[in-house]
Amino acid sequence: MKVVYASRMGHVEGIVNRLGITDALKIESGTEKCDGDYVLFTYTDGQGIVPPTVEAFLAANAGVKAVVGSGSMERHADTFNFAADIIAEKYNVPILAKVDMDGTDEDLETIKAKMASL
Ligand SMILES: Cc1cc2nc3c(=O)[nH]c(=O)nc-3n(C[C@H](O)[C@H](O)[C@H](O)COP(=O)(O)O)c2cc1C
Repeated sequence: MKVVYASRMGHVEGIVNRLGITDALKIESGTEKCDGDYVLFTYTDGQGIVPPTVEAFLAANAGVKAVVGSGSMERHADTFNFAADIIAEKYNVPILAKVDMDGTDEDLETIKAKMASL
């Protein structure tokens, strides 16, 4: 399934790259288009919010089927990966993983396995 991601500082992009996904769509402005189903990878912004560009993308592209979140346990433990929680609830989709920063090899294996079974 298509992967769409947002990454400001490179952690999420690193995850996508390490998964070997070469045709992923990066959300830059939120005005990008994705026809069909996709898995969304996103960081959490502010105090536990969905990045506004990601919100805009989701509102305009109906095919989200699952979400993977990246957050910071060290700096934002109280709102760890809230963006993934918010998206999962709003769009009624499963969370495949909530990872810390760029994730561990085990996180990547989990994501791979769950994406394969979507
Ligand atoms: C301004 C700012 C606010 C953040 N707020 C949260 C937060 O509320 N919860 C969380 O889990 N991570 C938070 N983070 C951490 C990022 O989501 C995390 O570092 C993520 O891996 C960044 O992904 P990226 O490198 O692909 O941009 C915040 C980071 C910044 C810079």
